[in-house]
Amino acid sequence: MKILVTGGAGFIGGNFIHYMLKEHPEDEIVCLDLLTYAGNMETLEPVLGNPKFKFVKGDITDRDFVFHLFEEEKFDVVVNFAAESHVDRSIYDPEVFLKTNILGTACLLDASKKFGVKRYHQVSTDEVYGDLPIEEKDLFFTEESNIHTSSPYSASKASADLLVQAYMKTYQLPATISRCSNNYGPYHFPEKLIPLVITRALNNETIPVYGTGENVRDWLYVTDHCRAIDMIIRSGKEGEIYNIGGHNEKTNLEVVKAILKALNKPESLITFVEDRKGHDRRYAIDPTKITEQLGWHHNYSFEEGIKMTVDWYLSHREWWEHIINGEYQDYYEKMYGGKEQ
Ligand code: NAD
Ligand code: DAU
Repeated sequence: MKILVTGGAGFIGGNFIHYMLKEHPEDEIVCLDLLTYAGNMETLEPVLGNPKFKFVKGDITDRDFVFHLFEEEKFDVVVNFAAESHVDRSIYDPEVFLKTNILGTACLLDASKKFGVKRYHQVSTDEVYGDLPIEEKDLFFTEESNIHTSSPYSASKASADLLVQAYMKTYQLPATISRCSNNYGPYHFPEKLIPLVITRALNNETIPVYGTGENVRDWLYVTDHCRAIDMIIRSGKEGEIYNIGGHNEKTNLEVVKAILKALNKPESLITFVEDRKGHDRRYAIDPTKITEQLGWHHNYSFEEGIKMTVDWYLSHREWWEHIINGEYQDYYEKMYGGKEQ
């Protein structure tokens, strides 16, 4: 199988590439990534010498480029991770979210249709469902929950998700969609809560907690997400939407305190700051469908996952220090400078 992974120099796409090359050494993977501020070639360094792996730098919104790539490579499967992914950035500057997340998805859908891709998979998010009340603990998002977005990020992801559904119905595009809860684990860009807390605590810096810290997220170790997507592209039914989550709900304050404890750092580093505008209160996924239909379940508890994540950041200091000092952006030029075709 030849698989196009877009956004593979980012957090989840990078973990997915590592996972797939290990679990399915017979498959070929092509990664297409624009290397925005969130893309990091150092994340892909361990697989750059693998003959089954190829990296292509490019923009999913560039139609000529994307169509040419599809024509040349003849992909069997496309998994679209590429996106602008940070909610706070979308609040300050929505435009690039609309371009990448909506027009980029549209371009990949058109190319998949034209070149007869056998399966297009859209990596959507639980944020398309909006939020749930904190106190009603028996309410969960199911695949039938209404789309009800809060931020420019989630609105752009919902638009892309609906577009995929339109292509399935109108053009019978063989596609699937997954909506996962918050991921954490290795290679997570330190603008997001968990890696931000780990890296700042290691540098004895203050930890900014929005509002009261009582907002709830449903955390899933990234490998559990990667395995779910792998199962969906192999055994999931065309036209279906699958929620992915492991019932690991925590308040932000619980998450921050767990990390500080694991690092043996004082809670006095916690600083409450102004709340995020339109801050979603609680996300909580009901994963019954993927569990019953595909046999997926999460492997890692939050306690195990946090320990693995903290250990990874401790043993990969260079990876995140290069992000903080900006050096990671030189990596592509160093490795590929002058070699672009
Ligand atoms: P990320 O920001 O770490 O990575 C995004 C990647 O996309 C980067 O490598 C970036 O360079 C690339 N990219 C951006 N614009 C591009 C363009 N125009 N063309 C080609 N590549 C481009 O994001 P992530 O956290 O790994 O999320 C990956 C996907 O999973 C996103 O679609 C996101 O919406 C979805 N998702 C994320 C989470 C989570 O908790 N992080 C949960 C559910 C769903
Ligand atoms: O639920 C899936 C989504 O999870 C994905 O679709 C998004 O791409 C991903 O970024 C993530 O969105 P969140 O907004 O939930 O993640 P973030 O790490 O930005 O924030 C997690 C919670 O922590 C949220 O309630 C806001 C809070 N927070 C975040 C930061 C960065 C803080 O309190 N302080 C911070 O400095």
